[in-house]
Amino acid sequence: MSHRLRTKYLGLDLKNPLVASAGPLTGRVDSLMKLEEAGASAVVLPSLFEEQITREEVEISLLYDFNNEGFAEAQSYLPEMQNYHTGPDNYLLLVRQAKQALTIPVIGSLNGTSNGGWVQYGKMIQDAGADALELNIYFLSTEPETTSLEVEARYLELVAAVRAAISIPLAVKIGPYFSSLPNMAKRLYQSGADGLVLFNRFLQPDIELDTLRVEPHLVLSQSEELRLPLRWIAILRSYFEKSLAATSGVHSADDVIKLILAGADVAMTTSGVLKKGPGLLADLLLGLMTWLDEKEYESVEQMKGSLSQRNSPDPAAFERANYVKAIRSYSSQFAV
Ligand SMILES: Cc1cc2nc3c(=O)[nH]c(=O)nc-3n(C[C@H](O)[C@H](O)[C@H](O)COP(=O)(O)O)c2cc1C
Repeated sequence: MSHRLRTKYLGLDLKNPLVASAGPLTGRVDSLMKLEEAGASAVVLPSLFEEQITREEVEISLLYDFNNEGFAEAQSYLPEMQNYHTGPDNYLLLVRQAKQALTIPVIGSLNGTSNGGWVQYGKMIQDAGADALELNIYFLSTEPETTSLEVEARYLELVAAVRAAISIPLAVKIGPYFSSLPNMAKRLYQSGADGLVLFNRFLQPDIELDTLRVEPHLVLSQSEELRLPLRWIAILRSYFEKSLAATSGVHSADDVIKLILAGADVAMTTSGVLKKGPGLLADLLLGLMTWLDEKEYESVEQMKGSLSQRNSPDPAAFERANYVKAIRSYSSQFAV
C-alpha cells in the first residue's frame, strides 16, 4: 500500500489509518493474522478486565489460606503457582503470540474503573511485548452523592497510575458522558494519556417482557453512530495535537474519510469486521485511496483535520447552533 496512507498514532508510524479495535476477532491469533492480511495497520487486543485480575488474586489467596490452615489433603488439589493458568496468564500469552505472528503494532488493553494493584498488569502487558496500551475506563456512577468532580478525579488517578507503571505509549478509551469533554480531555492528556479513543459504546440493558428480567443487550453498531465521535474529534482536534482515535460506527470508506477530515489519526472498527469479516478492511482502504485520488489529496496527513471545528467553513455547525438549524429545517417540511 501507498505511503500516502501513512499516519502517526501514539508515536507509532502506521501504514494506514485503519486499526482493528478490541473485540472477538482480535482475541485469537488466526483472526488477528487475517486482520493484518486485510490491511489493518495495528490491532487492539480485547481487554484484560480489572475484575478478571482481582478475582484470580482472591481465588488464589483463598486456596492458599485453606492450605495453610492445615488441610493436608487439600494440598494435592493445589495447582503449582507457576502452572496456574489464570485469565491474566492467558492474556499475556496472547500478547506474546500476537507479537510473534504479526508485523504490525499490537496494542494491549486494560479495562477497569479504580486505581489499585491490578494496574501493574499494564507493565506485564508491556513486558510481554505490546507496542502500546489502551486503558478502557468504563465507569457508571449510580449514586446521587457522587459528584462529577469525584468521578473525574477517579479517571485521572487511574490514568496517572497506569502511566507510572509503563513506559510504552498509553491511549485512554472513554465514554462521551462528561459535562465538559474538552476540559476532561485536557486533564487526561495532562495525566499522561498520549491519545484518546472516542468512544466506548456503553451497553444498555433491556427489560425482557416475557421473563421480566433485565438482560444485557449487545447490538453491533451502525454507521449513524459515527456522528458522536465525529463531532468530538472535530472539536478536540481544534485544541489538541496529541493522538485521537475514533471508534463507534465505522462501516464504510466514507466513515473513515469523514473521521480523518475531522482530525482523527486512526479510525477503528469492531462491529464492521464482525458483520462483514476482516476483508472489509481492504474495501475501506481501497475506498480511501480512490477518494484521495479523486479529490487530489496528496496524503492522509494532508487531509487530517482539514475539517476540524477550527478549520471548518462553518464552526457553529459543530455546536448548539446546529441543533436549532436542524430542527427548523426538519419542521419546515411539515409547515401547512
Ligand atoms: C463483542 C464485542 C466485544 C468487545 N470487547 C471489547 C473489549 O474487550 N475492550 C474494549 O475496550 N472494547 C471492546 N469492545 C468495543 C469495541 O472495541 C468498539 O470500541 C465498539 O464496539 C465500537 O466500535 P464499532 O462501532 O466498530 O463496533 C467490544 C465490542 C464488541 C461488539
